[in-house]
Amino acid sequence: MKYTTLGRSGLAVSTLTLGTMTFGSETEAEEAHAQLDQYTAAGGTMLETADVYSGGHAEEIVGEWLRGQSNAARDRLVIAGKGRFPVGVDARDSGTSRRHLRRALEGTLGRLGVDHLDLYQVHSWDPVTPLDETLGFLDSAVQSGKISYAGLSNFLGWQIAQAASNVRGRFPLISMQPQYNLLAREVEWEILPACEANGLGVLPWSPLGGGWLAGKYSQESRPSGATRLGEDPERGVEAYDLRSGEPRTWRVLEALQGIAEAHGQSMSRIALAWLSAQPAVSSVILGARTTRQLADNLGSVEVMLSAEDLATLDRASDPEPSAWPYGAAGREQRSRALA
Ligand SMILES: NC(=O)c1ccc[n+]([C@@H]2O[C@H](COP(=O)([O-])OP(=O)(O)OC[C@H]3O[C@@H](n4cnc5c(N)ncnc54)[C@H](OP(=O)(O)O)[C@@H]3O)[C@@H](O)[C@H]2O)c1
Repeated sequence: MKYTTLGRSGLAVSTLTLGTMTFGSETEAEEAHAQLDQYTAAGGTMLETADVYSGGHAEEIVGEWLRGQSNAARDRLVIAGKGRFPVGVDARDSGTSRRHLRRALEGTLGRLGVDHLDLYQVHSWDPVTPLDETLGFLDSAVQSGKISYAGLSNFLGWQIAQAASNVRGRFPLISMQPQYNLLAREVEWEILPACEANGLGVLPWSPLGGGWLAGKYSQESRPSGATRLGEDPERGVEAYDLRSGEPRTWRVLEALQGIAEAHGQSMSRIALAWLSAQPAVSSVILGARTTRQLADNLGSVEVMLSAEDLATLDRASDPEPSAWPYGAAGREQRSRALA
């Protein structure tokens, strides 16, 4: 395992984080606990969860495991949570108001059985709540010791810039979670530069595109069986028809397969190694249904991609923006030679 500091802060984290979104849904408690044992035995230190995962059950599963750990083992962990979306039946109990976030954070602490979180992240922008109200809540949560650091998730570039400039050092805002993987690189246009300019470490979610980059889906047949899209082909941003209709998907998978064969490694490991090599990325949030998948993914730290491998993957996955504002003409307009 490798380690880094998160954003412009002194918080040390492993460069692979364990995500818990599958816990209590695709992954039963016993298998989830085995994943937690396996991850920490491999030197992993950062657990990432959210109150909405399996309606709070994912946090309960993590809490149950934490209670079985020694104080020393618990102390080694950085625990991150997220709040913003409704957990109960009332869909209006949502957003980033002081009221909602206070209750969301208390709920998370209770289910995890801890008295504070190392990192608490706003799960997504809320167009209704004034930003100052949200930042005021995070500030008071830091001052009261309920959280040590705050972070963002799914914010756009201008939202990141607005949040960071309003914080102005009042409390440590240190991270941001976007979807980022070889099939979703549009975040490189505005979101990652905004994170870098404002000292936020990037924690990419869905690093394997929900399983696509493991090479399990094909053009010839629709998914079936015990896989995310086998169980629900319409699921989320990884939906089969969305991704299979994009020629880029198949270009990326072909490039990944070639490099995986040359290295004698799985496609998942190559995709994760590419992501870890991106300069803005602090720690990649792994997702797994089984301990077998997690073992595969943890092995990505051993993979050393050459400059040529990285360039091949960059080319195959290029989202090819039009010339302006994100393509060559826009980049040229923003450049300035000093020599
Ligand atoms: N901030 C946010 O809004 C947000 C959103 C989504 C996720 N997240 C976080 O990011 C974490 C990771 O996201 P994700 O679960 O979507 O990640 P992912 O790595 O893109 O997808 C994980 C899924 O891919 C399949 N898989 C993983 N490793 C594999 C391997 N080695 N071989 C074959 N199949 C493999 C498994 O699904 P099957 O076996 O079912 O095919 C697994 O559940 C989550 O746990 C959560 O903590 C955050």
